[in-house]
Amino acid sequence: MIIAIDGPAASGKGTIARRLAAHYGLSHLDTGLLYRATARVLLDRGERLDDPDRAVAAARGLALTDFDEARLRGAEMGEAASVVGAIPDVRAALLAMQRNFAARPEGAVLDGRDIGTVICPAAEVKIFVTADPETRAQRRALELAKRGEKVDYASVLADIRKRDERDSARSSAPLVAAGDAVKLDTSALDIESAVRAAIEIVEKRAGS
Ligand code: DC
Repeated sequence: MIIAIDGPAASGKGTIARRLAAHYGLSHLDTGLLYRATARVLLDRGERLDDPDRAVAAARGLALTDFDEARLRGAEMGEAASVVGAIPDVRAALLAMQRNFAARPEGAVLDGRDIGTVICPAAEVKIFVTADPETRAQRRALELAKRGEKVDYASVLADIRKRDERDSARSSAPLVAAGDAVKLDTSALDIESAVRAAIEIVEKRAGS
């Protein structure tokens, strides 16, 4: 069974994907890490994020085992990942890695922005996780504070809005719910309720 989870930053999709993978004994790929790692390579080399040739070379050089999550999770890297994610050739360079991951016999859980629309259009279950921007900004601010980053709620909210806009407006694989995705709004849900709701969606889909 392939479970595709998409949604904007800090919607809860990552946690839901991780918990679904554990619940069903499936492997999980957080595809945001691919874009974050591509951006990290460019920044480490002192190269521009919006240079398509360099960005494609960085994306092609990635291996799934390379990821040092602690260096990739920060707010700055999320923004940088959104910039490289808007380059169509970067998306193309990262496609096979994601499809190969999803092709394991037992299936997998993948989360990102275009899993249900582009990477795994035939996924058995597609969930589009949303939450209002203010709630997402509060969650992200809390998460960053826990990581020891300096946090200013207003700028976190502004970043989230900017990232939503860039991820939704880009021409290649924009952030949009697949026609057959089930929408899950987590604004009023704590994580346990959101995970329960996601499991219910999977059970309903898998049963039908
Ligand atoms: O899910 P995340 O916050 O780690 O993603 C960081 C950025 O990477 C996101 O703002 C846009 C880009 N991204 C993407 O374009 N497509 C994906 N499947 C995952 C992430």
